[in-house]
Amino acid sequence: MTKRIALVTGGMGGIGTAICKALAEAGHAIVTTYSKPGKETAWLAEMKQAGYDVHAYQCDVTNTEQCATMVAQIHQEIGTISVLVNNAGITRDNSFRKMTADDWHQVISANLDSVFNVTRPVIDAMVEQGFGRIVNISSINGQKGQFGQSNYSAAKAGMHGFTMALAQEVARKGVTVNTVSPGYIATDMVMAVPQEHRDKIVAQIPVGRLGKPEEIASLVSWIASDNAGFMTGANIAMNGGQHTM
Ligand code: CAA
Repeated sequence: MTKRIALVTGGMGGIGTAICKALAEAGHAIVTTYSKPGKETAWLAEMKQAGYDVHAYQCDVTNTEQCATMVAQIHQEIGTISVLVNNAGITRDNSFRKMTADDWHQVISANLDSVFNVTRPVIDAMVEQGFGRIVNISSINGQKGQFGQSNYSAAKAGMHGFTMALAQEVARKGVTVNTVSPGYIATDMVMAVPQEHRDKIVAQIPVGRLGKPEEIASLVSWIASDNAGFMTGANIAMNGGQHTM
C-alpha cells in the first residue's frame, strides 16, 4: 500500500515536530509548513539525520491564496493529503484591557482563520477518496479560558466549534474531524510565559509536571489511524488533570 500523506501545519515547532515524527513512524509521508525562511534547512537536516523523510513548503497559513496554492502543489507533486493536522499557532498574551487590535487579529488569524485556509482546499479530495483525518490542535485554554489570553482562548474555542460542525458534514464520507486540547506542554511557547506565572500554572497540574510533546503526538497518531474511524466531532483533552469536564 502506498503511504498516506499527512500535512502538519507549523510542523517545525515543539508539538509539531513530535507529531511529524509520530506520523512518520506510523507509516505516513510527511509534509509540513513553515511561515518564514530561516530554520527550515537545519530542521530538515536534523529530521533527515534522524531517519525521517519530510517535505516542507513555505506558506503563510493566514493567507487564503497561499494555502490553496500550496495544497494544489502538494497534490500535484506528492499526492492526495489524507491526514491534516491544523497545528500552526501563536500567542500574543496580554490582559484584555492592554490588548491591541493587532494582538487580537494576529492570534485569530494564525490560530483560527488558518484552519479555514488549509482545510478548505484539502476537504474535497478527502471526500472523493472516501478517507480523511482532520485533527485540530486546540488548547486547554480554549476549554477553560486563561487570564491574559482572551484572543487565544477565543480562537482555540472557535477551532472546536469548527470541528463539531465539519465532523457532521463529512461523517458519511469516511472523513473524521477531531480536536485535541493539550494542556501546558514543555515547548518554547510555554517556556516563554514569565517564570512566576509558569510556576503558578505548573502548581495547578495534578500530574505535577508539564506534558511532553511526544504524549500529544502519540494521541494524534492514533486519531489518524484506521482504528479511530468511529471517533468524530470529539474534543480530547490531555492536560495532566489541570482541567476536567
Ligand atoms: N489570575 C488572576 N490575576 C492575575 C493573573 C492570573 N493568572 N495574572 C496576573 N493577575 C493580576 C495581577 O496580580 C495584577 O493584579 P493587581 O492589579 O491587583 O496587582 C494584575 O492582574 C496585573 O494585570 P496586568 O494586565 O498588568 O498583567 P501582567 O502584564 O502582569 O501579566 C500576562 C499579564 C503577561 C498575560 C501574564 O498574566 C501571563 O503571562 N499569564 C500567563 C498566560 C498564559 O498562561 N499563557 C499561556 C501561553 S502557552 C500556551 O498558550 C499554550 C497552551 O495552549 C497552553
